[in-house]
Parts: sequence; structure tokens; C-alpha cells
Amino acid sequence: MAEPVIAVAGLTKRFGPVLAVDGLDFSVDEGQVCGLLGPNGAGKSTTLRVLVGLVFADAGQVRLLGRPVRPGDAVLARAGTMIEESAFAPYLSGARNLRLWWEAGGRRWEDADAETALAVADLGSAIDRKVKTYSQGMKQRLGLARALLSAPDVLVLDEPTSGLDPGEMREVRQLLRRVSERGATVLLSSHLLAEVEQVCDHVVVMDKGKLVAAGPVQQLIGASGSVYLEVTNVRRATSTLKKVKGVTRVTPEPPGLAVELDGVKRSEVVAALVHAGVGVETVTTRHRLEDAFLGLVGEE
Ligand SMILES: Nc1ncnc2c1ncn2[C@@H]1O[C@H](COP(=O)(O)OP(=O)(O)O)[C@@H](O)[C@H]1O
Ligand SMILES: [Mg+2]
Repeated sequence: MAEPVIAVAGLTKRFGPVLAVDGLDFSVDEGQVCGLLGPNGAGKSTTLRVLVGLVFADAGQVRLLGRPVRPGDAVLARAGTMIEESAFAPYLSGARNLRLWWEAGGRRWEDADAETALAVADLGSAIDRKVKTYSQGMKQRLGLARALLSAPDVLVLDEPTSGLDPGEMREVRQLLRRVSERGATVLLSSHLLAEVEQVCDHVVVMDKGKLVAAGPVQQLIGASGSVYLEVTNVRRATSTLKKVKGVTRVTPEPPGLAVELDGVKRSEVVAALVHAGVGVETVTTRHRLEDAFLGLVGEE
């Protein structure tokens, strides 16, 4: 097996009394579009900053393309990043902004992969318009184009879809797909489950600096392993459900119950409750990613 493009092991980062990242482990394989999902304050930005050498870890290891990340390491030149909100000169065109930014890094414009970056960002003739006329989505795409100028093998993007409307999000999604089709690996953060579901093929869920769940999005969605119920009598429902074959766990989640199922139909569970004289008011199917993420968002 090839080494993962991104490998994070035991990553820990403290800011004074705040433990921003707490023993985090995950990896991203070549060609994946992986979402780092978690509520605000989960430690996503800190993790990405360590990955691109902007912040030192207190403990743990972070490897990028097979090399340990150290500020100034040459491996960082193979990563395209969008970590801070992309700032552009509003009165200059998108194209001019890209070129000035590239040259400010002491590089020659002829060496930039402008063709790919512009094709992927797909701004058309708008690239020659002043940035101040751009929508949020267009600025985001310009930021992505900037991250692509160095023809990176890996893209690290902090909340690249934040503030976009559904149409703009679709554009960013297509853009990231084009990037991954070119063979690049993408790690992006988001605090919205729906965004990650739409944009990513893999997901790493974190909260309070710790790993909550990780895996292919389809696998986490597809294994519809649980159901949320609201019932007239929680206590009786709990004792009844615990006797139903295929119910692996019953967890109180006021005002209802979360019930994990393995090889038993929702309808059988509801029938068992009704048979025991418990009224069922709400039945909601959940998939595992939702389970993993639920409750986290409520704490924001
Ligand atoms: N430079 C910093 N100084 C002090 N605390 C920080 C700093 N950066 C982040 N934090 C704290 O670390 C925690 C994680 O923050 P962050 O990584 O930005 O989370 P996220 O990106 O998931 O919202 C938060 O409690 C935040 O306030
Ligand atoms: Mg953040």
C-alpha cells in the first residue's frame, strides 16, 4: 500500500489553556476529496494550519506526501492552500491579482500553471474584470485558482464553501472534482454536514479536538443503522426495544430515543412498540454520518 498523502497521528495543539487539537489521528489517500467536518471550535483550522506548516504541533506527527511537515520544508511547495480568507486587490482584475500574488513569491509567471488554474476555476471572461465586481462564489473560485497555480499535488482548503449559495456550491463541487480528476488530493474543512456530503467522497468528523468518525461518505451514509423515535412512554419503549431482536442499542435522546438497528426493519420496531401499548409519534431514519455529527452542531 502506498503511503497516504496526508497522515496525522496523535496531533495535539494547545493554545494556553485551550486544547485545540487533542490526539487526532486520520489519513487521506491519493486522489481523495476528504472533508474535515466539525462544529465551530472543533479544531479544524488549527489542524489544517499545522498541516501546511503555519503552526507548530505540541505533540504528534503530521506527514505530507510522505515527509514530516516542518515550516519552510520543500514539500510544502507541493501543497496548494486556502487557509486565510483570500484577500484580493479589489480594483485589479482577477488575472492581475493572480499574477501579482505569484510574482510576490519571487516566482516567474511563465512557471505558473495558469492554464490549468484558470480552466478549473472557470471564470471565463470575468477573469479580466475587477475583483470588486465578483460575487462571493467567484472570489472563492479565484482563491482556488490561486491555490492551483503551483500545480499542487495536494490542496488544503479551510471552509472553501462557506458563504456560498447552492449554485455557487455546485460550481465549487465541480471544480474540486476537476482537481481530483487531475490526480490531486483534496482536504477541506467544513462545519456543515450537507456540504461535506455533496462535495467530498471521504469524511473525517472531529469535535473538541478529537476524532469522532472517519470513512467513505457513502459508507457512512449508506449504512442506515439507526432510527430516532418519539414515543408516549419512554421507559416502557426502552424496555420493550431492548427485547427486540436486531436492536443493538437504545440511547435516550430527549425528547426521544435513538435506536440502533442491525438486521431488523423499522416497521418491526414500531410494531413491537405499538404491541406493547406505546404510542409512536415520530420515526426518523438516520444514517451514521448524521449520527456522528448530530449533537455536535447543537453545541455551537
Ligand atoms: N491562535 C489562537 N490562539 C488562541 N486560541 C486559539 C487560536 N486558534 C484557535 N484557538 C482556539 O482553538 C480552538 C479550535 O479552534 P479552530 O481550530 O479555529 O476550530 P475550527 O476551525 O474547527 O472552528 C478554539 O477554541 C479556538 O478558540
Ligand atoms: Mg475554522
